[in-house]
Amino acid sequence: MTEKTLPLPPDPPLTERAYRYLAEVIYRRSRIRLGPDRRAFMAGRLAGRLRELGCGSFDDYCRLLDTPPGDHEAERLIELVSTNHTHFFREPAHFNYLAEEVLPRADERVRDDGRDLQCWCAAAASGEEAYSLAIVLAEHARNRPGLGWQVTASDISPRMLARCQAGMYDSGRVRLPRPEWLARYFRRGFGEREGVYRVKPDLRRQVTTTLINLFQDTYPLNTPQDVIFCRNVMIYFDEPSRQILVERLFEQLVPGGHLFVGHAESLLGIRHQFRQVRPAVYQRPAS
Ligand SMILES: C[S@@+](CC[C@H](N)C(=O)[O-])C[C@H]1O[C@@H](n2cnc3c(N)ncnc32)[C@H](O)[C@@H]1O
Repeated sequence: MTEKTLPLPPDPPLTERAYRYLAEVIYRRSRIRLGPDRRAFMAGRLAGRLRELGCGSFDDYCRLLDTPPGDHEAERLIELVSTNHTHFFREPAHFNYLAEEVLPRADERVRDDGRDLQCWCAAAASGEEAYSLAIVLAEHARNRPGLGWQVTASDISPRMLARCQAGMYDSGRVRLPRPEWLARYFRRGFGEREGVYRVKPDLRRQVTTTLINLFQDTYPLNTPQDVIFCRNVMIYFDEPSRQILVERLFEQLVPGGHLFVGHAESLLGIRHQFRQVRPAVYQRPAS
């Protein structure tokens, strides 16, 4: 007898009321703003989750969010509607500017202060951006004995951070500007890990992963930062939220430190005290 697979029941419809409720939960927690045109997108992203949880309707799902431990589900909800797209050396001009202009000056500053150079990758997703930063820093430090440096990689999504921490990427995704960096910073997987490259432990140790919602009350960063990459996340926030975020990032930088945002995200319309030094690169004045 051949086994027949039963057709899946149709996905429950996402009513306007349930959509508004979910969009509000997402906004309150993450500041990600989903407009009225995103209803079909949300229904598509959540259909599988409702099936997993055995929720027959979006009203059931909303009730689940409302009852303890709804917090955990709200985290999952945000992960499901977030865009995590990223890749190594995305927007490469930023990494060139970092290597050629920013690091040599930051270098002098940290030596004068007698401390390590600190970089924060503030919406790191699965980690490609944080490791791109780490590679540029490692290359910079190669000829500078005694220069200590760290990268903090953070994101709102625990799943993304777990991937960042693991540092394992399909070989096709590891595209680097210099071919020699592959052998220097990655190990090729064998057997079960065929087709996967893993960031070498020495480089992984330089990258600390921390769960940070950019709108949480305080950031658990112990020291001021020389460089902050906060790219391709502000586009999901509305202007009042971007205003708050930019002020907070300014405070997090040392005087003379640099903020990199995505090329599609200028600080236009935001009141700020930064000096723009390149497209999508801003510097906190030195004094
Ligand atoms: C498109 S990815 C950007 C990745 C990387 N910065 C890049 O430019 O390639 C956006 C990331 O922002 C994160 N995110 C969204 N809202 C956030 C928030 N309120 N706090 C921290 N991270 C957030 C998402 O989880 C996602 O991983």
